Amino acid sequence: MTESAGTGMGLRGSTITGIGRYLPRRIMTNHEIEKMVDTSDEWIVTRTGIRERRIAAPEEASSDLAYAASQEALAGAGITPAQLDLIIVGTATPDMLFPATACILQDRLGAKQAGAFDLSAACSSWVYAVAVAHGYIAAGLAKTVLVAGAETLSKFTNWKDRDTCVLFGDSAGAVVMQACEPGSGFLSFYLGADGAGGSLIAIPAGGSRIPASFESIERNQHFMQMNGREVYKFAVRCIPKAIEEAVQRAHLTIDDVDVFIPHQANIRIIDAAAGRLGQPREKFFINVERYGNTSSASVPVALYEAVEGGRVKPGDVVVLVAFGGGLTWGSCALRWTKPS
Ligand code: UT7
Repeated sequence: MTESAGTGMGLRGSTITGIGRYLPRRIMTNHEIEKMVDTSDEWIVTRTGIRERRIAAPEEASSDLAYAASQEALAGAGITPAQLDLIIVGTATPDMLFPATACILQDRLGAKQAGAFDLSAACSSWVYAVAVAHGYIAAGLAKTVLVAGAETLSKFTNWKDRDTCVLFGDSAGAVVMQACEPGSGFLSFYLGADGAGGSLIAIPAGGSRIPASFESIERNQHFMQMNGREVYKFAVRCIPKAIEEAVQRAHLTIDDVDVFIPHQANIRIIDAAAGRLGQPREKFFINVERYGNTSSASVPVALYEAVEGGRVKPGDVVVLVAFGGGLTWGSCALRWTKPS
């Protein structure tokens, strides 16, 4: 993305006017996973910071999680679904290859005036989708956009693979975005990708490259596969750079930032990024211990909890940052405008 694309924030601003989240009821602790694979609570806590995660019910799909989160976001914004011009769902775990999870959500909400599509950038999907929603609003193509991040990673997890099964969880977050004066709400965006690293984290089968077959299932290619060490190195490099870009493009300094809301993948990644930036860890909102890595839902769920808990207050400068499969990364700076 060019510098002007990052700073050219359009004629209108956009801001979050409602936020919601949904957490599946079922809590799975590390001790339960100890019974499935050769691991320990101690290893998982020390290496990742994760203590438990939520697991969607067998009958729950990503659109169901998105629906519950969206209803709360719509209520918070004080609008009806009929007022939505556009729905974007960021997800790596859609209900099916098509139709889009966003269309399933649009029907369920009864958002009859809204266009709807999914955005696929793995764990960065929601931040990417917020940037797209901002573009629609700034250009005058939409007034009111619902942006959800919804994941049911547990359904794509090989519960016999200790390299991955300890890390992920299910949840959804959603925001309503509407126009505001430029200078409040979203202040900058920065999106990036490196497709050369695509194989580092992937669900290889079920698409057109490796269509689903008995062989693909025998080889576990319909489950998520990951080179954790390489993704870790990428994340530690990528987060500080993405934060710095978002801050610069907003014409701020890093010390102007009140709260960082990073993708919740691993506490050690967040600590390393804080260290590299020379920023106190207390400025980073962390809830990875309760939910694990919920991919595109992680940043909106963390933002929701930071607002609910009073960590983010009106007027605060907040930087959101995500990274994930693709490889992809995305960040944005915003001045929080919603009274909590
Ligand atoms: O949204 C992006 C998604 N992905 C990520 O964010 C993942 C990023 N990567 C990570 O968070 C870390 O690399 C992991 C948590 C996946 C792994 O931590 P690590 O400190 O990089 O461990 P490692 O892969 O270097 O493995 C250390 C040891 C190995 O044993 P040896 O070779 O030292 O004997 C592994 O076999 O830990 C072993 N190990 C485990 N032991 C117990 C790997 N997974 C487990 C496990 N339980 N679950």
